[in-house]
Amino acid sequence: MGDQAVPADYKQFFEKKVNIMLKLQRRLGSAYEAATDAELVERIASAKDSLADRLVVLGHHYQRDEVIQFADKTGDSLALSRYAAQQHNAEYVVFCGVEFMAEAADILTASHQKVILPDLGAGCSMADMADIDAVELAWKEISQLTDIDNVIPVTYINSSAALKNFVGRHNGAVCTSSNAAAIIKWALSGTKDQDSLPDIVEVAKKTKKKVLFFPDQHLARNTAYRLGFNVEDEVVYDPEIELGGLDQESAERSTFILWKGHCSVHQRFNVAQIENFRNRYDNAVIMAHPECSHEVVEKADIVGSTDAIIKAVNAAKPGTHIGIATEVHLVNRLADTHQDLYIECLDPVMCPCATMNRIDLPHLAWVMDGLLEDTVYNQIIVDEIIKEGAKLALDRMLSIA
Ligand code: 13P
Ligand code: SF4
Repeated sequence: MGDQAVPADYKQFFEKKVNIMLKLQRRLGSAYEAATDAELVERIASAKDSLADRLVVLGHHYQRDEVIQFADKTGDSLALSRYAAQQHNAEYVVFCGVEFMAEAADILTASHQKVILPDLGAGCSMADMADIDAVELAWKEISQLTDIDNVIPVTYINSSAALKNFVGRHNGAVCTSSNAAAIIKWALSGTKDQDSLPDIVEVAKKTKKKVLFFPDQHLARNTAYRLGFNVEDEVVYDPEIELGGLDQESAERSTFILWKGHCSVHQRFNVAQIENFRNRYDNAVIMAHPECSHEVVEKADIVGSTDAIIKAVNAAKPGTHIGIATEVHLVNRLADTHQDLYIECLDPVMCPCATMNRIDLPHLAWVMDGLLEDTVYNQIIVDEIIKEGAKLALDRMLSIA
């Protein structure tokens, strides 16, 4: 598909889908609200046994322990997307994560498969920071300031299906925190064959390509710096102000136009927490997710996705003190399973991701019991009009890295 005009009516479809979802979300009822954890665990285990191969349960690393125990596959956003795309047989995919992940799974699975999000309130506040209207306006505004044919839109997977569709239709791609560097290199060079690429900063100068990255400015900035770009190569587009605050000079000069969005969990980490941890322990190792600010990432020893953080912890020498800048459920699980290490969340308040946290035993038991009776609660259905471009953008990502 080339750079086609976006059908005017797909926004309407998207809004309709949201309204339908809100109407479908219902109270669980006293049977689930009053049940003990032990009863709910038994119920879920028994439903899982009965459904057998008809069901696959996916769990993101930020899920509660009581939920993650039921996951057939745990992973970061990339691993779970890949896994969802490979599940050709399961009739039901119960996604213990947040809405954008379930939407991606619906886009990547076949039409006979149903993806279920146990609580429809499990969104992502970062994903909500860029909506399709604002992105379309930005695209128009940026085209007034620079040659839009040179701008490749890249959306973080933490975004609505409508944005993935936009990106797919404008020759861009999706990325996750584990493949952002490869996707950005592809966008700036036009080649998937990255081994033969010379220095990407030089390549970008020659191609004159730019990346419009949304919604997380931090992942984009951290990845750009890692690739050798610097502050001169970026400008922040603020959707709250005219032209995003850009002018012709800044738009022309920049290789990266970064949407002013962030994760409310990861923005809690700061340099003082890292310094404090290092002052306390001689052998301190700091690990940070790339959604953290650049100042934090610069001071970290290891930066990576949730999967990358888990791998780094698994490889740490016994006795190491590890301070981690990411969501607290994952950090606590790592601390529990690595008794030979000293692991702490760098944020002393240790707030969980409020939306990930919405998936709990009562909701999981409720959707599973429904499936036993062939009733599908909370199915995530991405409209076909949106699916087409969104799948293109996701497939492009999976074919690059
Ligand atoms: P990962 O892709 O690293 O799992 O991150 C997803 C996310 O939402 C982090 O906040
Ligand atoms: Fe979204 Fe942040 Fe929660 Fe990840 S941790 S799902 S980016 S709000």
